[in-house]
Amino acid sequence: MRKPAAVCLVLSLSLFVLLLGAPASANGYGGGGGGNNNGDHDQGYNTRPAYEKPVDGLKADYYSKSCPEMEAIVQRAVRKAVGKDYTLAPSLIRLFFHDFAVQGTDASVLVDAPGSEKYADASKTLRGFDLIEDIKTELEKKCKHTVSCADILTAAARDASTAVGVPYWSLRYGRKDGTESREDEADRYVPMGGESVTDLIAFFQSNGLNVVDLVALSGAHTIGRATCESVKPGLCQRKKSGAVNARYADFLTRKCAAGGDDEYVELDGETPTAFDNRYYKNLMRGMGLLPSDQKMLQDSRTSHFVTAFANQRSEMFTHQFAQSMRRLSEAQVLTGDEGVVRRKCSVLE
Ligand code: HEM
Repeated sequence: MRKPAAVCLVLSLSLFVLLLGAPASANGYGGGGGGNNNGDHDQGYNTRPAYEKPVDGLKADYYSKSCPEMEAIVQRAVRKAVGKDYTLAPSLIRLFFHDFAVQGTDASVLVDAPGSEKYADASKTLRGFDLIEDIKTELEKKCKHTVSCADILTAAARDASTAVGVPYWSLRYGRKDGTESREDEADRYVPMGGESVTDLIAFFQSNGLNVVDLVALSGAHTIGRATCESVKPGLCQRKKSGAVNARYADFLTRKCAAGGDDEYVELDGETPTAFDNRYYKNLMRGMGLLPSDQKMLQDSRTSHFVTAFANQRSEMFTHQFAQSMRRLSEAQVLTGDEGVVRRKCSVLE
């Protein structure tokens, strides 16, 4: 159902213990300016985890009769593709996030038509479209007009994550594909790095996700790359104000001057291919590549979570990442007759 998911924290025990010591305003729910403003008071730590709550229309066994091999087919294809080209793993995770960012996970980002999301500025460096379409073609052969592109993209993002070391999480299926896709909406909704923490919290909350989800999911930037076009704006200013480590800023300035806007920079300059908590450690040293990432350390609503993830074992982050990805995959989805099952992911029905 397309409605905000219940706002409910899903925390590992260690994070829970740690957070008991954090001031109320730090978790984004007890004040602190742009904290929770949706009037939802169901945020106690004792509430049932969101992933255990039913979402109308989504079921773990949704394809068990109609397409029992669905998960195996997606997983095989993703593993093979990532085995050949590791950079596809972060790209698939990002593709999934961009799809979610515009009206929930409905495969609208996959539509290839004039004026569709795919042609937005925000989508310029997205990758992984062909792999999803290839999987869809294989699934159409096995189970005609049955598996939605939204479910394929969701499973592919999970399998890309586990392929790079994130703990496995189970999924529920039954998402339907959307019937529109608009370039202007992608450019309006998808965060691109210049946002304030207040903007990011508001964006996540409007989609049924909370501050922990924001900080944990941003940890996806522990792998993958950004272009200099995303990195350069405001870099000098950030250096002058001390918001970024001066040597790191010099390195970025040199690299981007030499390579131009299309040059790639690793999002995590220290361990770029390891899905670990280095991203948070980097933020602690002023080495966040994107301004919006670095701001999370300065803001009282997010800083405790950044510090917690940086100081604990990587597993604490990766487990929360898996939980938050599951929450993201169920927020604002279309089910039942709210959407369709496309025959080709790139073509609207
Ligand atoms: C919270 C706000 C976020 C902002 C402002 C943001 C912004 C960005 C930007 C600017 C890039 C580089 C784009 C380029 O220059 O090519 C990027 C890359 C990436 N983002 Fe985010 N992002 C956010 C959240 C997320 C989330 C929630 C996820 C996943 C759950 C994610 C996953 C990724 C990945 C994996 C990459 C690397 C992609 C690749 O290597 O192909 N991001 N992000």
